[in-house]
Amino acid sequence: MIKESKWPGIITTSLEARKEHWDLAEKISIDTGLPVVARGKKTIKELSEEWQAEHIIVVKAQKVICITGATELFFHPSMAVLRIKEIRSGKNDTMINAMNLKPGEKLLDCTLGLGVDAIVASYVLGKDGLVVGWESSPIVASIVRIGLNSGYKQTKKVVQEAMKRIVVEHADHREALNTLPANCFDVVYFDPMFRRPHHKSSAVNALRPLADNRFLTTEVIASAIRVARRRVVVKDNKMGSELVRLGFNRFEGGKHSRVVYGVMIKEE
Ligand SMILES: C[S@@+](CC[C@H](N)C(=O)[O-])C[C@H]1O[C@@H](n2cnc3c(N)ncnc32)[C@H](O)[C@@H]1O
Repeated sequence: MIKESKWPGIITTSLEARKEHWDLAEKISIDTGLPVVARGKKTIKELSEEWQAEHIIVVKAQKVICITGATELFFHPSMAVLRIKEIRSGKNDTMINAMNLKPGEKLLDCTLGLGVDAIVASYVLGKDGLVVGWESSPIVASIVRIGLNSGYKQTKKVVQEAMKRIVVEHADHREALNTLPANCFDVVYFDPMFRRPHHKSSAVNALRPLADNRFLTTEVIASAIRVARRRVVVKDNKMGSELVRLGFNRFEGGKHSRVVYGVMIKEE
């Protein structure tokens, strides 16, 4: 939905690129508006200096990575695999409980990030359900879209299928929510970058230089309430005060969890 990129970067391949890597690089270029640059025999450092690029996206044999300074971002289902395993063994998932998600429902994830929460939700919603994930960083949206569709071979088939069902859109929820009709998703979900970050999470640390760090506003929550049929759910650091600032007064989360979910129930 967003046309222009404001993140300066280039796209290249590994040293031994095949045609499919070039094709993928072209696809990322269309998604992000960033140029594809021939790797030649140059190192990443040489390319980065030559192009003065902050982000270098490298298409490799099995994955796409984005190098920003010392951090490397790539798609990985990480905790989603363990969370789905626990759900399958009958355990509760705090996020799913906070959403009260049921198979066949529709979820709008307004802050897709690496798609971990979306994968868990997609598994619970099943084939008849729908997860739409919005991500405002074009690089993150493109890498995660490719990763979700890659059918990450190391995971079980049910996880791969859950990943492939997620619809990824490059969109800014501040604008895109206003374009949707009322009550068109059962649940609307936000997991913004925390004001009080957990620096121990390596996945979020890799996301940090690419992520949209703006805070949620009460206007965004009002739009989400209009778009949601049942609930709006927002995740925050347990030590944070965002949920109260945004008007939440119902909180759900495990006793020992570092995160908490603010829940607004519209109808149930
Ligand atoms: C903490 S991460 C989400 C992690 C995600 N829940 C997961 O499980 O991987 C927050 C993400 O929301 C994105 N974001 C922040 N503001 C946004 C906006 N206005 N519209 C869309 N995405 C946004 C950030 O770029 C970042 O990738």
